[in-house]
Amino acid sequence: MSTAARDLQAHGNAVFMTLVMDADVRRDPYPTLHEIRRAAPVLHSSLGTWVLTRYEECYAVLRDPRCGKNWSGMMLQAGFGDWREHPSLGYGENSLLFANPPQHTRLRRLVAKAFTPRTVDRLKPRMAETVDRLLDPLADAGGGDLLDALAFPLPVTVIGDLLGVPEADRAPFRDAVRANTRTLEMNVTREDVEIADVAATWMSRYFHDLLREKRRQPVDDMMSAMALATEGNDRLSDEEIVQMSLLLFGAGFETTTNLIGNGVYHLMKNPDQLRILREDASLLANAVEELVRYDGSILLSGRSTFEDIEVAGHLIPAGSGIVTILGAANRDPAKYADPDRLDLRRRGVEPLSFGSGIHYCLGANLARGEAVLAIGRLLERFPRLELVEEPAFRDQFVFRGLESLRISCALH
Ligand code: HEM
Repeated sequence: MSTAARDLQAHGNAVFMTLVMDADVRRDPYPTLHEIRRAAPVLHSSLGTWVLTRYEECYAVLRDPRCGKNWSGMMLQAGFGDWREHPSLGYGENSLLFANPPQHTRLRRLVAKAFTPRTVDRLKPRMAETVDRLLDPLADAGGGDLLDALAFPLPVTVIGDLLGVPEADRAPFRDAVRANTRTLEMNVTREDVEIADVAATWMSRYFHDLLREKRRQPVDDMMSAMALATEGNDRLSDEEIVQMSLLLFGAGFETTTNLIGNGVYHLMKNPDQLRILREDASLLANAVEELVRYDGSILLSGRSTFEDIEVAGHLIPAGSGIVTILGAANRDPAKYADPDRLDLRRRGVEPLSFGSGIHYCLGANLARGEAVLAIGRLLERFPRLELVEEPAFRDQFVFRGLESLRISCALH
């Protein structure tokens, strides 16, 4: 490597480390992500992991069969060699999200049917009713916290009904799931893991109890279906059903809550775009895709190399960790003209926010459908929407979302 290239790697690494260390950088990471990409789009960081920030390489690695998941390696790298002793970390081994073929293929086949575009279409009338019911109190009060009023309860209702988690049991999952997702952040601490352990123990016990209930009295929901499902001679074990339910329930609302929250926030910060959308509701689907690109709710996905691979002239040896920064790929100027501009009419929006390849988000159709209904009805019902205060983003990088979104809304 030439001296100039080495200097650029060193600069890229110094900038990357600010993302890991500095809360202010994480709150608005995009200028920093541009700087890393300009200096070293394939960066061998001082943490040992390779960091990719261009669309082309992120896309290629996510789809490359020579790259996959290595939960144990990831835990070791994060300093949790004792991960098996932590309930909040031990799940990775049995989770669809961290499995490789053939186990991944087997687990995914058993649940994929529930998330096809057709199945999601069937849920839409009920979803629309839920949106309207949730918007009523906002209308009565003239405003409120949009996350509490709509962005959290909508996806939790949809996935809760689908899975078969009784309504009265759902509320405590909001904090418990958040505690668990913190363990996937780049700056996770031992204290975070201890808090997550308590939450994970409670959630696992809850789902084991619920599964026993479903086995005793199966009903028309996904947990009962998983308990009864067989593919040839294959069945899911109790632990696999519990892990799948936890993954679907957690992934089903945390990310969608943030998609709706981030999306509405950016629309309000870009009144010209909000006006365009109000004037032409046929833009809604494209608008949601652009909002997913502009500030998605998962900014990073990790992979490991199973063999040596070459990425843009860099040899990445077998056994290396790679982080594809989805949020950086989505703002790559080589892929999108003027990438920092929110442009709801943008053509050819193909964000990596839902990943790519075999782990492509199972719930992407569902999340998109919920966001289209939520944002569409919000704009239809309230001709005037205003921010009551400037909201803050939570201090996280991988799972990006707001603390709250207090708005006032008027019917005319
Ligand atoms: C805006 C909302 C959402 C975003 C941004 C999102 C993002 C993602 C991403 C980036 C991945 C791939 C991770 C990787 O490559 O390692 C993923 C996987 C997954 N998502 Fe989502 N997700 C969302 C909503 C949902 C919903 C609503 C559900 C379920 C109801 C869901 C269930 C899953 C599952 C089960 C996987 C694992 C798939 C596999 O490993 O084969 N997600 N999601």
